[in-house]
Amino acid sequence: MKTYQAVLIPGDGIGPEITVAVKKVLSAAGAGIEWIERKAGIAALADGSGVMPEETIEAIQEHQVGLKGPCTTPVGKGFSSVNVQLRKRLDLYAAVRPVRSLPGVKTRFENVDLIIIRENTEGLYSGVENEVTPGVVMSMKVATEGACSRIAKWAFRYATQRKRKKISVFHKANIMKMTDGLFIKCAEEVHRIDYPNIEYEEVIIDAGCMKLVQDPTQFDMLLLENLYGDVVSDLCAGQVGGLGVIPGANIGDREAVFEAVHGSAPDIAGKGVANPLALLMSAVMMLNHMSDKEHEPELREVGGKIKAAYNQALSDGCKTRDLGGELGTDEFADRVIERLNG
Ligand code: NAI
Repeated sequence: MKTYQAVLIPGDGIGPEITVAVKKVLSAAGAGIEWIERKAGIAALADGSGVMPEETIEAIQEHQVGLKGPCTTPVGKGFSSVNVQLRKRLDLYAAVRPVRSLPGVKTRFENVDLIIIRENTEGLYSGVENEVTPGVVMSMKVATEGACSRIAKWAFRYATQRKRKKISVFHKANIMKMTDGLFIKCAEEVHRIDYPNIEYEEVIIDAGCMKLVQDPTQFDMLLLENLYGDVVSDLCAGQVGGLGVIPGANIGDREAVFEAVHGSAPDIAGKGVANPLALLMSAVMMLNHMSDKEHEPELREVGGKIKAAYNQALSDGCKTRDLGGELGTDEFADRVIERLNG
């Protein structure tokens, strides 16, 4: 099989542990990936090159695809989020997060199969905050027609390709009449003009969250602006086993960076107990993306083999602590590798 280059950012906290495990599985599966390792986050700060080194951005621009571990962002002070910076710099405007029930992972609902599409560049993540006067601060929520239409088009196109039936837009346009109002106006227009065959609904986000908790299987695809997408992704993760099992992709018109939904988990970092599955699933999404882009079906076959192996491992009761098991990060990766060839 040919060799492909992809950028790898190990990240902070549990990042380096889970990326080692994922690299091991991909190599055992014969994915043929040559990793171009670059730093970001606190790991890069230690080198004196800033949290988002230019050479990391340039490497992703050159190779167009990357796998990223989580990066820590200080709360209430310090540097602005590396993740947000990366998404903005490369205009990775569409975040895709599949939320699926897994074999052997018992949760309240079976057959959850939901895709979350999050607008990744605007909203309250614009980072425009200021102190108007002592004791009064404000944060600006930005929505542009261009970005709202772009993500809506992307979501409907994705739904069509994946044969999805319905898109539910979560919003709070009853309160944020202009910003969320623009978001739903653009989504409704894209639906009405270009994709009338896909069912469409608008759901006020508070009631939508209640419905998600009551029964997530009533939804097919969710489309949300930036902050709502962030929060609702974690809510949905809780419905299928937690943050250790939800992968993600940040996709732009040229580059794509794949990463788990979870963060750097400082509470368990360095202990060798983190679940590498969400990052492994993200790596499978990366292989599928590369397969389509390079017209190389073998990459998708390798992804399928890895998926079958981790599903089998879970069915056989091989689990990390977050899923009620006892395996460490590396041990779980080994159990997956043992099942790679059926
Ligand atoms: P978190 O996702 O890191 O952790 C929340 C809880 O889930 C913790 O109890 C953690 O131990 C657990 N958890 C997360 N991933 C796990 C895994 N793979 N296996 C087992 N348990 C796992 O969220 P938190 O604590 O809010 O954020 C920690 C740091 O991560 C912050 O600095 C935050 O800014 C950053 N972060 C980075 C993201 C990224 O790089 N894309 C995304 C979310 C948060």
